[in-house]
Amino acid sequence: TLELLLAAMGGYLLGSVPFGLVLTRLAGLGDIRQIGSGNIGATNVLRTGRKGLALATLLLDGGKGAIAVGLAWWILGRDLVPVAGFAAVLGHNFPVWLGFKGGKGVATTFGTLMAASWPVGLACCGTWIAVAALLRYSSLSALVGLALSPAYAYYFAGPEFAVMAAGLAALGFYRHKANIQRLLKGEEPRIGGKKQAEE
Ligand code: G3P
Repeated sequence: TLELLLAAMGGYLLGSVPFGLVLTRLAGLGDIRQIGSGNIGATNVLRTGRKGLALATLLLDGGKGAIAVGLAWWILGRDLVPVAGFAAVLGHNFPVWLGFKGGKGVATTFGTLMAASWPVGLACCGTWIAVAALLRYSSLSALVGLALSPAYAYYFAGPEFAVMAAGLAALGFYRHKANIQRLLKGEEPRIGGKKQAEE
């Protein structure tokens, strides 16, 4: 139907705005894809040493997911929330503007979940913070938060949003393949840690 198409297209377009790339470029830091992991997300923006810029990336990448879900819910109804949310994360991960080479979708996923059901979003963010405080790996914190998100969604928001969370979690794991391999080899850099060569 037209409404399904609207939810998918609107979500994708909103999600496809690469805030990390735009903000670092505006700040004169060059191309974020040439720095650190090469990712366009807040974790990699933090590797430039600009904490404020990283926080802004986190909030804007999360916010675009939340807005996609909020708009879809308001205009098209609750049934199309999962479509808009999933499309927003696809937009972030595979933006047409960057030759479909985008980010890993953690902030955008948590933003969509926050707007779909704030207790689910809070639980995911709390999980991320707890794991990061303990182990200081951004990727692992995201993976644990993503893995638990379907359970949180089922408990707090019902089966439709649990299906959305499961889809987002699967996509998120797929996008973290290189991080998972580095974690298993003990080569994943920690948040705030020294560069690999200096450790
Ligand atoms: O949000 C992405 C994060 O989980 C990992 O980012 O730059 O360390 O690959 P990065």
